[in-house]
Amino acid sequence: MTRSFEGKTIVVSGAAGGVGRAAVALFIESGARVCATDISPAVADLERDAPGDIVAVAADVTKAADVENIFATAEQRLGPVDVLVSNAGFIISKSVHDTSEDEWDRVMNANAKSFFLMSRRALPSMLARGNGSIVATGSISSVVGLPEQAAYCAAKGALLQLVRQMAVDYASHGIRVNAVGAGSINTPFLTRYLEGLDDPAAGEAAIKSAHPIGRWAEPREIADAILYLAGPNASFVTGHILMADGGCSAR
Ligand SMILES: NC(=O)c1ccc[n+]([C@@H]2O[C@H](COP(=O)([O-])OP(=O)(O)OC[C@H]3O[C@@H](n4cnc5c(N)ncnc54)[C@H](O)[C@@H]3O)[C@@H](O)[C@H]2O)c1
Repeated sequence: MTRSFEGKTIVVSGAAGGVGRAAVALFIESGARVCATDISPAVADLERDAPGDIVAVAADVTKAADVENIFATAEQRLGPVDVLVSNAGFIISKSVHDTSEDEWDRVMNANAKSFFLMSRRALPSMLARGNGSIVATGSISSVVGLPEQAAYCAAKGALLQLVRQMAVDYASHGIRVNAVGAGSINTPFLTRYLEGLDDPAAGEAAIKSAHPIGRWAEPREIADAILYLAGPNASFVTGHILMADGGCSAR
């Protein structure tokens, strides 16, 4: 592992979850200091494990006041934020006719509004310094319609369009904006999804066979894609969705 994020300050949301934890660990190995944030109080474990390098903030990224607290804490304790990884998200698996207004709002807010709020708070400092990188965790659901994922596909599609739009607005200011298009990942998110199915074993087999690579991803494989997009090796990449999906969207 190269120390390509030496001296950098990173904010990672969804940091108590599978992908978020893996990304935080890789950023730390790469020399960064990380503000790890999640709605789950379990995020505090990360700071206990690496005091000084990790600052944990329990916060709801769908609320502007909480987002303000995340960045104020990061700036005060770690310095100006160089990289934002907007990774928090969750799914409710339903078709349009079964989705309540509240379910629609919760999924849109967690996956799309959160990205807007986090970016809006990160950008002024990045603009002032003429440098920054933003990565959002998207999905196969950002680019295709999947069964019974009405609100989630809409939210992850909106996220991708905001990635493209911000890439255009901010490229000339030295700020890159990209997304990872994740396939299925071995995290609590996937476990909960499978448990909600009538036949979890059949669901697992179907998911694995949907990925030409024949399996789902481990969180580290998605974190690797996040770090690539966030870092100097992707210096000419912006407005892009990197499909880390085992070939799923290539069919
Ligand atoms: N696991 C998969 O199969 C899969 C596939 C494609 C994309 N994704 C995306 O990957 C990202 C990471 O998910 P994961 O697989 O690590 O799942 P996860 O459930 O392990 O982690 C997601 C984290 O986001 C947090 N979160 C949710 N809503 C929040 C809010 N309002 N404020 C703050 N934190 C909040 C949760 O508490 C959780 O810790 C998500 O955006 C998800 O949509 C996951």
